[in-house]
Amino acid sequence: MADPTVRGMPIDLRSDTVTRPTAGMREAMATAEVGDDVYGEDPTVNALESEVAALFGHEAALFCPTGSMANQIALQVLVPPGGELLCDADAHVVTYEMGAAAAYGGITSRTWPAVGADIDPDGVAGMIRPDGYWAVPTRAIAVEQTHNRGGGGVIPLDTLRELRRVADAAQSALHCDGARIWHAHVADGVPLATYGALFDTLSVCLSKGLGAPVGSLVVGTADKIEQARLVRKRMGGGMRQAGILAAAGRYALTHHVDRLAEDHAKAARLAEAITPYGVLAAPVRTNLVPLDLTKAPMDAHALAAAARAEGVLISVLGPRTARLVTHLDVTNAAIDRAATILPRILRA
Ligand SMILES: Cc1ncc(COP(=O)(O)O)c(C=O)c1O
Repeated sequence: MADPTVRGMPIDLRSDTVTRPTAGMREAMATAEVGDDVYGEDPTVNALESEVAALFGHEAALFCPTGSMANQIALQVLVPPGGELLCDADAHVVTYEMGAAAAYGGITSRTWPAVGADIDPDGVAGMIRPDGYWAVPTRAIAVEQTHNRGGGGVIPLDTLRELRRVADAAQSALHCDGARIWHAHVADGVPLATYGALFDTLSVCLSKGLGAPVGSLVVGTADKIEQARLVRKRMGGGMRQAGILAAAGRYALTHHVDRLAEDHAKAARLAEAITPYGVLAAPVRTNLVPLDLTKAPMDAHALAAAARAEGVLISVLGPRTARLVTHLDVTNAAIDRAATILPRILRA
């Protein structure tokens, strides 16, 4: 990849969704065998679905266009109209999915205060509402691994096991928004199948850190995925020769999972560079670097504008919160440069 310090290209740290398919990935896409996936006849989609199901130790998986659709399909399978979903106030499913659970699924959402990956299972247990005509029954609990607005934090395995017990005791389902579960797997060394065993459904994303242009999967039992296939069609997510896209995902699973450790190291390097300025919101565990600018001499918009003027793009999440994200398309040279530019701005 071209060195941005030489070519004057911006160093794009806004998100890990900005990556472009590599030459190898494009080759895999161009040569993919395809068929009509609505007829179940796309061999590359079928292969991807089987591979991902096996990785998580589940029976089946369903290829979807986006992570949002994969989450919402799973929630509609788990929660009947009028039922309740519990999740945290910062969860992607209630923050960035346009009210889809209510709009499409008739699902009521109730949230626990935003604590990122630092979940208190007893607190969640205390929120559960039982069946009965006098209250909205809790049907599913959703968690996010890793946690996006929680700065890429990783929910510890013990916490997830506790939550599974809480869900079982309440006869509630447990869903994982695993858009970046690959990062948790690499950071904590927890096998994907160990995560898989704890959830009724997972949505896992190929187009974030894994670098595919499109695609997420819902993972679960054969029965749930059969229902999910119907919901996907109802939502307009049935695709035809989708093997071209699934091929990118298969390539990513082979080539881009282990390398996430490099992205984590790059994020740690950025965190180290800005730590002296008191703006690191939380310890960095994966590829996200959360910034809290409450005590900084500038707000998030001013920081982003100053960084942009020097060729570094960052995300503004709120007036005093921002985020840096490392990924496949930022080189070590680019990180070195960003690690010089950002402290210079924060010092000013
Ligand atoms: C945690 C999480 N879940 C779900 C999504 C949704 O993915 P998509 O943009 O493919 O709908 C994202 C997107 O960034 C995310 O960060």
